[in-house]
Amino acid sequence: MTQARYSTVAIILHWLIAGLLVWIVLLGWEASDVQGSAKIAPLQLHKPLGITILLLTLARLAWRLTHRPPMINPDLKPWERRLALGVHWGFYVILLALPLSGWAMVSASKLITVYPIDMFGLFDWPALSFLTNLPADQMKSTQDLLSEAHHLIAKIIVYVLTPLHVLGALKHHFLDKDNELARMIPFLARKDAE
Ligand code: HEM
Ligand code: HEM
Repeated sequence: MTQARYSTVAIILHWLIAGLLVWIVLLGWEASDVQGSAKIAPLQLHKPLGITILLLTLARLAWRLTHRPPMINPDLKPWERRLALGVHWGFYVILLALPLSGWAMVSASKLITVYPIDMFGLFDWPALSFLTNLPADQMKSTQDLLSEAHHLIAKIIVYVLTPLHVLGALKHHFLDKDNELARMIPFLARKDAE
């Protein structure tokens, strides 16, 4: 069984982004559950967290493309390998598409001047001016379209990619009892499987 694991940078970015993802989804749901001004607080935190995930994902992709990941577990069946890689690259695509659609959605709203993307009190993240400057009717339809896209993409990551990925990881750990999980959580490495 292979002992190979991801680099420390890849592991830190994996768990940091996974943690932020849980937090931002809970804030998104909270904002959807309430009405009027009660939406403001969760969304004002949701937005800078989303931009942070965008920047961390760009850093992660840059790292991934310049550092060879550990060799894929040779015991995986071809369909397991294809599914795992498809989910991994699906995550990268969606972790870019979600924050970009969110950024574009709030840029296509007059409210951006009242509620900017406040990066934790440090500075305001700029709006996409070509969307903020659209004529009023086009702005509304663009915002609605982007909002639908944002909700749909969020559903894919929450209800499709994450369950497949987590169930896959747990299956390997508890049923196959291989060292797959230790590639991302090194202290879980099983001595008997090495
Ligand atoms: C990885 C990053 C992101 C994730 C996972 C995410 C996820 C979500 C989720 C799950 C919801 C609730 C959807 C629902 O109830 O069906 C939501 C709503 C929302 N998100 Fe995000 N989001 C991200 C980034 C962003 C960014 C960067 C912005 C803006 C800068 C943003 C702005 C919004 C807004 C304004 C809403 C509520 C508005 C509406 O109802 O359409 N999001 N997001
Ligand atoms: C929901 C948030 C998560 C996201 C977005 C995520 C994303 C990813 C991505 C993109 C990779 C591939 C890394 C690469 O090759 O560049 C990966 C690998 C991995 N993840 Fe996650 N992950 C999440 C949560 C989890 C959880 C909760 C677990 C454990 C139960 C887990 C366990 C693993 C393992 C073991 C690998 C290594 C797979 C391998 O290469 O053999 N992940 N993850």
